Amino acid sequence: MKTSIAALLLLFKVGEIVAVCPDGYSLEPALQQCFLITGKTGNWSSASSFCQSTGGNLPSIHNAFQNAALAKFFRTALNLGNKFWLGFYSCCFGPVWFWTDGTPDDYYNFASEHSEARGWHPYLDLDTQKWPTAEGATELAFICAAPDSASTRSTDLHQLSRRTKHTQ
Ligand SMILES: *[C@@H]1O[C@H](CO)[C@@H](O)[C@H](O)[C@H]1NC(C)=O
Repeated sequence: MKTSIAALLLLFKVGEIVAVCPDGYSLEPALQQCFLITGKTGNWSSASSFCQSTGGNLPSIHNAFQNAALAKFFRTALNLGNKFWLGFYSCCFGPVWFWTDGTPDDYYNFASEHSEARGWHPYLDLDTQKWPTAEGATELAFICAAPDSASTRSTDLHQLSRRTKHTQ
């Protein structure tokens, strides 16, 4: 009995440690996501292309928990101000919003003053944790995000189902 519990604990431990992040990214355990601390600022399109060239995207946010955890992480990760680009863009006969990482637009936390015009993009304001918007040409800080591909492997169904429940 004792040994099987120990084996089980070991398995969970291994499951937690093994993360598959793109090169240069590291796992942020609270968010179960990989991040690249770029230390850079840029306009929205250069920030977005930079992230894509490293195997990630500007971050997407899908619930209030992620929103708060991301704001906290950005705050502690580096000292580049309090505004970070998000990978959200509006398109076409708008406003229709899309995340650059292809995830669904299932959560909004826009500041009461924001623009839904094409070419404007929300950023995460670390002080209010809301999403005001800025014209795409504005230079803001950014961090790149990528899924931890280990946690979506079929062998890790337990964690996957926990994640799924979390985001509902
Ligand atoms: C964004 O920045 C890049 C690189 O500095 C620059 O080439 C591009 O013209 C800028 N785009 C906008 C819309 O400001």
